[in-house]
Amino acid sequence: MRQSSLVVVANRLPIDDSVAPDGACEWRRSPGGLVSALHPLLRHTPATWVGWAGGTGPAPALPDVDRVRMRSVALSAEDLRDHYEGFANATLWPLYHDAVEQPEYHRRWWEAYQRVNQRFAEATAEVADPGAVVWVQDYHLQLVPGLLRELRPDLRIGFFLHVPFPPPELFMQLPRRAELLRGMLGADLIGFQRAQAAHNFAQLATKVLGMPATDREITMPDREVRIGAFPVAIDTAEMAALAGRPDVAARAARLRHDLGDPEHVILSVDRMDYTKGIEQRLKAYSELLASGHVKVRDTVLVQVAVPSRERVGQYQILRERVEREVGRINGEFGRVGEPAIHYLTQPFDRAEVAALYRVADVMAVTPLRDGMNLVAKEYVAARVDDNGVLLLSEFAGAAAELPQAYLVNPHDLEGLKQELLTALHADPADVTARMRAMREHLRHNDIHAWARSYLSALDDGSLLNRLAAAG
Ligand code: G6P
Repeated sequence: MRQSSLVVVANRLPIDDSVAPDGACEWRRSPGGLVSALHPLLRHTPATWVGWAGGTGPAPALPDVDRVRMRSVALSAEDLRDHYEGFANATLWPLYHDAVEQPEYHRRWWEAYQRVNQRFAEATAEVADPGAVVWVQDYHLQLVPGLLRELRPDLRIGFFLHVPFPPPELFMQLPRRAELLRGMLGADLIGFQRAQAAHNFAQLATKVLGMPATDREITMPDREVRIGAFPVAIDTAEMAALAGRPDVAARAARLRHDLGDPEHVILSVDRMDYTKGIEQRLKAYSELLASGHVKVRDTVLVQVAVPSRERVGQYQILRERVEREVGRINGEFGRVGEPAIHYLTQPFDRAEVAALYRVADVMAVTPLRDGMNLVAKEYVAARVDDNGVLLLSEFAGAAAELPQAYLVNPHDLEGLKQELLTALHADPADVTARMRAMREHLRHNDIHAWARSYLSALDDGSLLNRLAAAG
């Protein structure tokens, strides 16, 4: 078994399986944020990514991708149901997002969560060099830091939570709350998206485990665990370059024409998830159409909602409700050749998304709760013309960094309608000033800065120094 001095552990491997023209299965780097962020680092060091390849059954042996080793972890059909769809996405996901849907608690799911986390920890222990840096990602794997420390006390272990970490009132619902906290505390550094999340965690460490804690550090009997906010970012320059390409600009013009050259284009791009506030947004839009404040001929709403976690009941119900509502609104307010809402559930390639961003006069990102929301950041990065209004939920992590967005409380229907109208009729000079300020922020706070700041905090800079020395 070849070993690595840097190991990233995430539920998913950073690859898509796509079928080549000859029918063979081919693996390629997927465009996800995390992999782009870590790519420069991973390439320059013997690195391994430990994760699930997406199917069930035995773990496939995978070729290296861009010199990064892929170590796949097998999930059985039962693990998929009880770990991924169950404990991760029907217990933790809703609980961590303000319980906007009811979290479900099943003992069988918890057993699967432990079992799968153990498997990830063992796979990681096998591939990590003595003293290696291991970076564990997200809510699917909260027990891995603790399990891994038992197997390999020599490792430097980081954990980063991409989703919100809830206040104690909510977290206390979890039947196995103490074990989950202890699992995370196996790390040397626990990163969150927002300072509030680190604060919530510190409070819980004291309340549930009786450990002295500040918002920067938890004092365990045998060591200190550091905590802090490291807001995740995007590859700003890459998105700007993509959006600035002549073919993307031409595609944007074509899209506008195909939409009927309306005065205003409003765009939303979401995973089909109840945390994204899609239903609330549609209701606000429908009321604005009904009251005549928005007219179908002048204004077009493009809603991209890519299906997600499709076997989980709450996601199936959401999709049915959204589709019924889109159908109702189009039936009531659309005309032949002029739907009120252009509703798309297909995933788009990056260039097409960039073209959509360039067409959108208003980008409506109104989740009920969101760890960060990278779509909001991508939109800003894509507006190379310093134009476009970002309508952003106060409850997205991105709001803490982008105060120049038009901020909105998506639970407040009247406020949402009002802010949407304000966005549609915003003063162009104000729009440009706000967009410039947001673009400036994202230029400095990009994905590379994020990975550097987290890893240097985890490793006191020595991994980064080694890499810099290696050129
Ligand atoms: C969120 C999570 C990620 C997850 C992604 C897509 O952003 O924080 O860990 O990968 O959603 O969800 P999926 O269930 O398809 O992996």
